[in-house]
Amino acid sequence: MQSLTISPPDARFRPKVPPPLREPLGLFAFLRAARANPITTWMEDHFTAPVVAGEGAMGRVTVVSDPDLIRYLFVENARNYRKDDLQRRVLAPGLGNGLLTAEGDEWRLQRRTLAPIFNARTVEGFAPAMNAAGARIARRLARRDGMRVDVALEMTRATLDVLERTIFTHGLPSDPDALGRAITRFLEAVGPIDPLDVFGVPAMVPRIGRLRARPAIRFFAEVVDALIDRRRDLMEAGAAPQDLLTLLLAAQDPETGKGLTDLEVKANIVTFIAAGHETTANALTWALYCLSQDGAARARLEAEVDAAAGQDGFHYPDLPFTKAVMEEAMRLFPPVPFMSRQAIRDDRIGRIKIPRGSLVMVAPYVLHRHRTLWDDPDAFVPERFLGPARQSISRYAYLPFGAGPRVCIGQSFSLQEQVILLAHAVRAMRFTLPPDHAPVTPLHRVTLRPEHGLRMQVERRG
Ligand code: HEM
Repeated sequence: MQSLTISPPDARFRPKVPPPLREPLGLFAFLRAARANPITTWMEDHFTAPVVAGEGAMGRVTVVSDPDLIRYLFVENARNYRKDDLQRRVLAPGLGNGLLTAEGDEWRLQRRTLAPIFNARTVEGFAPAMNAAGARIARRLARRDGMRVDVALEMTRATLDVLERTIFTHGLPSDPDALGRAITRFLEAVGPIDPLDVFGVPAMVPRIGRLRARPAIRFFAEVVDALIDRRRDLMEAGAAPQDLLTLLLAAQDPETGKGLTDLEVKANIVTFIAAGHETTANALTWALYCLSQDGAARARLEAEVDAAAGQDGFHYPDLPFTKAVMEEAMRLFPPVPFMSRQAIRDDRIGRIKIPRGSLVMVAPYVLHRHRTLWDDPDAFVPERFLGPARQSISRYAYLPFGAGPRVCIGQSFSLQEQVILLAHAVRAMRFTLPPDHAPVTPLHRVTLRPEHGLRMQVERRG
């Protein structure tokens, strides 16, 4: 366990979250809770035991929260585990066979082909686009000086702006807010876990949520088709910008030299937007909330961004405390609250038997607040992620981006983006939670967001 010597414990901010359950819920109560807000179904045992196995509505489920056993699951024996049917049923209708939902050889080929697109140098090259989006959101917020703004919405706007600037340099041929609304509608529609999926009812039985998502899915597909056509023309003329779309269209498997089909390019664009914008926006939203409740952290962050601000915005390596704030926000409120896998063959995780076909879960929401792994687990303490304290965190105890071969491909992209956007927002404005605001508690809808939204007062700084 890491040990910390920083601000006195009673001065720390401990955000309100649903209390873990003492007793297991009955089947119908469980299904109701899982649909309304899955994080309310975690039990006290999950936060104290290294492994919890049990029979439930989804058959046998084993929740693993021991760093060594997680390494075994995600790395050493990763080949024995596939993304489970539940995840595929929930995500695949919207994302097609992009990297997030592909399996087996198809996934391996796509991952090899896409890896260079997210390497350190390419991601660094996106910093100007991220700074431009940061400057834009700062200007937008400054125009709302003294007003209450929907922080989650503003952060979603900013992360979509980053994706537009990095995927499609020339912008979408439509109102950017319309795309944002379509994506949000899509995630809302597929977000709640459908009991039909839990019970493995065949895909041909229509799900109400899925039907609602159809126009949003069609909208994506049409816009992206038009963009690919235009971009191929530009590439042939040697006039294409070096953004993610060009990189995707030009990507080649280093082993076979083969490129992606148009369908794969499209599926991955949709995947990057869906996997990358709300996750990152929610991380920023939670960070701004935590900062509004911790005056010392806010003052330290303001001092850092004031000193680091340059003509062209911010340089990511100059902002270590800003990064620590984001990492701590993702510890308390991991945008992907759980990951699940299905065993291909019988296995054993530690002393626990894993029957073929059963589900194994790693839940960052549980792992990041596990009583045996963290000092004062429910407190907001960004300093955990600085200097020697950071080194003492086990690689497999902190997994906002997952681990092993299926680790988030957009991890460095997102971290750099979060830090640059937060720096712009905090440099320009101060965010305060009005005293009459509804309680700010997490709601699990694919990602983790504030249940009643987050409407904060913004004030221009300086
Ligand atoms: C705060 C932001 C983000 C978080 C917390 C996050 C989290 C994750 C996690 C936990 C996984 C692994 C899921 C599993 O193992 O079951 C994942 C995979 C993935 N993420 Fe992210 N992600 C974020 C941002 C992004 C961005 C910005 C992009 C793209 C631009 C992206 C694209 C992907 C893709 C394509 C995969 C699938 C990788 C594979 O299976 O090979 N993510 N993400």
